[in-house]
Amino acid sequence: MISIKHINEKDIELCSELDSNTISLWSKQQWANEFKKDGTKIFGLLMKNLVIGICVFQVVLDEAQINYFVVNKKFREKGYGSYLMSYLIKKCEKLNLRKLLLEVSQSNVTAERFYSRFDFYTVGIRKNYYKDGSHALLKEKKINNKIM
Ligand SMILES: CC(C)(COP(=O)(O)OP(=O)(O)OC[C@H]1O[C@@H](n2cnc3c(N)ncnc32)[C@H](O)[C@@H]1OP(=O)(O)O)[C@@H](O)C(=O)NCCC(=O)NCCS
Repeated sequence: MISIKHINEKDIELCSELDSNTISLWSKQQWANEFKKDGTKIFGLLMKNLVIGICVFQVVLDEAQINYFVVNKKFREKGYGSYLMSYLIKKCEKLNLRKLLLEVSQSNVTAERFYSRFDFYTVGIRKNYYKDGSHALLKEKKINNKIM
């Protein structure tokens, strides 16, 4: 049984642990900073009580940005990442946002494929942005809001 819950700062250990076991993007201090950012919500993807994925989602005016998106290695390629992304897209629609944005390394072929499946398009590039020298692709998805 899969579900999504809002993660609070008291669960920072869960975020930090999943991060250490996957992409090692942020230190505990950086996670703490994310919890304090205006408009930021952290969502956990749960299998029973186990957090198998995390997303950091920040709303700024009429746009949202995905600052972190990961699924535990053991649970990949089973549709769980898609479940979480579909949830975020619906959230954007409900909030009447215009765009969903993110950044991904050009060398991350898996993530590129994943995002293309949800109609994210490359709208910019930051050259040599990552430590390994790879470029960051700036991607956006237009949100189809109903005209009220
Ligand atoms: C990217 C990621 C979140 C995908 O999660 P997931 O649960 O495996 O994704 P899904 O099972 O829902 O897959 C959806 C689609 O993504 C693509 N995809 C997923 N894994 C893939 C792989 N290993 N190779 C190629 N395409 C892949 C496919 O198009 C797939 O659709 P299909 O099953 O119909 O072929 C996961 O691989 C991950 O956590 N990667 C490490 C973190 C990361 O790179 N995050 C993004 C950084 S910005």
